[in-house]
Amino acid sequence: MAYPLVRNRRLRSSTALRNLVRETTIGVNDFIAPIFVTEGVGVKDEITSMPGVYHWSLDTMEQELREIVDLGIQAVLLFGVPDHKDATGTSAYEDNGIVQKAIRKIKSIYPDLVVIADTCLCQFTDHGHCGVVHTTECGAQIDNDESLVLLTKAAVSQAKAGADIIAPSNMMDGFVAAIRQGLDEAGFTNIPIMSYSVKFSSAYYGPFREAAHSSPKFGDRRTYQMDSANAREALREAQADVEEGADFLMVKPGLAYLDIIRMLRDRYTLPIVSYNVSAEYSMVKAAAMQGWIDERAIVLETLLGMKRAGADLIITYHAKDAARWLQEN
Ligand code: PBG
Ligand code: ZN
Repeated sequence: MAYPLVRNRRLRSSTALRNLVRETTIGVNDFIAPIFVTEGVGVKDEITSMPGVYHWSLDTMEQELREIVDLGIQAVLLFGVPDHKDATGTSAYEDNGIVQKAIRKIKSIYPDLVVIADTCLCQFTDHGHCGVVHTTECGAQIDNDESLVLLTKAAVSQAKAGADIIAPSNMMDGFVAAIRQGLDEAGFTNIPIMSYSVKFSSAYYGPFREAAHSSPKFGDRRTYQMDSANAREALREAQADVEEGADFLMVKPGLAYLDIIRMLRDRYTLPIVSYNVSAEYSMVKAAAMQGWIDERAIVLETLLGMKRAGADLIITYHAKDAARWLQEN
């Protein structure tokens, strides 16, 4: 009689057995919830392309924070939407910048909530680039080393305001070393850096740029963000950050770059963070609103996929929903 020598289905025959042999799990401790904060009072503006995600002013933000904390989420990632922009992104490193005020407020209400500050200039510059722009006969250039000075100022001012983790997303060369040195000199030797190590130039940031009003006014970000085609170059980016003292390595976007997450997982022992970015969220929301997909199942499967690829942590706009669904399970 012909019979299968291997019967993999044996271990799938009951819920209990499936639970026993499950290799990967997701839990609320894996999630980081992004928050957009803005000036003004009583603001709760839904971002059109990201249903369920809002701009909050400092007063209304409390409502969002309470939900996040009540669901057991451990960390938030803060993005500021200032009302004043200029060529050098001054509002990114002012003591009274929107991010600095939000950090102080959050830490005063929830001292145990881990506050991660995104460190970049693009929301704060009038040209929308992540660094300082010089215009010459050959066109506009992003000045790497001049940008590092301002990014370091921004990181130090965020640490002074009480940020628990600095997350630089600017993709200048040497930003981890520059910010590490700045933090250390200011006495913040114990503040970790969550580096956006491998950040690709991506169409998946579209809805975020609408949300943060941070689209570049000219050109694009391809001279500093990575080409989507390159995996070996991703290793060089990660290696540089490890040598410069990064405490976490991030891959961004997540879904189209799971191979990169796996590569970093196999080579490095630092915690790996996957950023489930804005368009990954918007696509799911749009299809769910049409009734075309099962949102809950799709989201949990996607987040599980990122964990299975090797991510320890996931920054996701689905954080609150996913935390709620996992509680119901
Ligand atoms: C800013 C920044 C961006 C994102 C996080 N920080 C946008 C960009 O680089 O254009 C994207 C987040 C998302 O799409 O959810 N440097
Ligand atoms: Zn930026």
